[in-house]
Amino acid sequence: MRQFVTSLIIIVATLLFISRSSSSLKLGETCSTSSNNCDPGLRCGTCPASGNTRPRCTRIQPMTPTSKVNGLPFNRYTWLTTHNSFAVSGTKSSTGSPILGPANQEDDVTSQLKNGVRGLMLDMYDFNNDIWLCHSFGGKCYNITAFQPAINVLREIQNFLQANPSEIITIFIEDYVTSPRGLTKLFDAAGLTKFMFPVNRMPKNGSDWPTITDMVKQNQRLIVFTSKSSKEASEGIAYEWTYVVENQYGSEGQIAGSCPSRSESSPMDTKSRSLVLQNYFSTNPNVTGACIDNSAPIIAMMNTCQIAAGNRWPNYIAVDFYQRSDGGGAAEAVDVGNGHLTCGCPNIAYCGANGTCNTPVLSPPPPAQLSPQGSGGSSHGYSLLEVVRVQWFIGALLSSLILLSL
Ligand SMILES: *[C@@H]1O[C@H](CO)[C@@H](O)[C@H](O)[C@H]1NC(C)=O
Ligand SMILES: *[C@@H]1O[C@H](CO)[C@@H](O)[C@H](O)[C@H]1NC(C)=O
Ligand SMILES: *[C@@H]1O[C@H](CO)[C@@H](O)[C@H](O)[C@H]1NC(C)=O
Ligand SMILES: *[C@@H]1O[C@H](CO)[C@@H](O)[C@H](O)[C@H]1NC(C)=O
Repeated sequence: MRQFVTSLIIIVATLLFISRSSSSLKLGETCSTSSNNCDPGLRCGTCPASGNTRPRCTRIQPMTPTSKVNGLPFNRYTWLTTHNSFAVSGTKSSTGSPILGPANQEDDVTSQLKNGVRGLMLDMYDFNNDIWLCHSFGGKCYNITAFQPAINVLREIQNFLQANPSEIITIFIEDYVTSPRGLTKLFDAAGLTKFMFPVNRMPKNGSDWPTITDMVKQNQRLIVFTSKSSKEASEGIAYEWTYVVENQYGSEGQIAGSCPSRSESSPMDTKSRSLVLQNYFSTNPNVTGACIDNSAPIIAMMNTCQIAAGNRWPNYIAVDFYQRSDGGGAAEAVDVGNGHLTCGCPNIAYCGANGTCNTPVLSPPPPAQLSPQGSGGSSHGYSLLEVVRVQWFIGALLSSLILLSL
């Protein structure tokens, strides 16, 4: 009898273990940072600076807004945007030199695009008889600030557009290129020219952009903005601030309750610019701080900037370390923007039929700690609790069995 019970315990324990470790984990559930056993679209992480030391599954992918509401004008969507998309931590300069200065992201552009990033901020410089992506100063690139030739990353973008015929990408160039027709040659060489959305179709008076359906149909799925006004006339590349308003970047742009425009941009409420870009990242990028920035504060700033922009929700949300947060992250902020812009609900996940909202009683992100009386209405974060309950129940059953048999 004793042997039988022991075997039974071992079998049940094994089954429990298998069911626990092979099932992928949902948002907010405790996970392993070494094996990242979270569902797709999530990443196992902590945010110690906000007290979240238990590794949990956090979001890294926004919802695909077109899966809910398709076919609206381009300016009726919010897109996740990475600041200095190319400045990936742990990379060495292609010159062989170590890179000086902090990084802004943790994965390459191909991976970012796979995770739903659709806005890329790229700093381009003349360097080594070519155009390079550098995170530099004084308008000049050096070995220690040069990441890699820009064409490498543009080819990654080309591959993605080719493989995903209904996706639209925006590139924001911080433009230090002075070589004649440098950008034109670069985009030609990367095979991107055929995808470029023509400047003459960009609204200049605040009207709606063409619909995404139209942009996809015409295969005009790459929007490129430059920070150099002269390039619009000389190369047909759109001058960003004719089309976009943008708030102050860096720590100055993170002061709660205020959303001033950056110096190059018209005031945030300038309605003749149809697109709104919200920056939210520190002047001193670091993962420790970014996981806080990309959590509640970014949503609070969205509300502030929405008012500053004349009741317009952002079309682009630009962050550092987009995968870091203590739960919903920048992905959640993008879902909030898309909810307001596409269907008038507080989150794209809540868009219902015929303009109704299926807003749950409790909203994500999930609670920081699993609370024993957590029985709220949120669909997120509670399945672990259920597993624990079942395990507890089976455990109690087993103990009774053992006691009876002994
Ligand atoms: C920069 O890197 C190149 C190799 O790409 C090397 O030839 C050159 O000497 C380096 N310049 C400096 C100043 O280190
Ligand atoms: C704005 O420009 C578009 C073309 O880009 C034009 O169709 C529309 O009538 C203009 N609207 C106003 C109010 O001027
Ligand atoms: C890290 O980031 C936070 C918030 O983004 C910022 O306030 C802080 O100054 C940064 N710390 C360092 C050491 O750079
Ligand atoms: C939405 O509207 C259509 C027609 O206007 C109607 O047939 C349909 O039942 C409505 N759906 C819901 C969920 O109200």
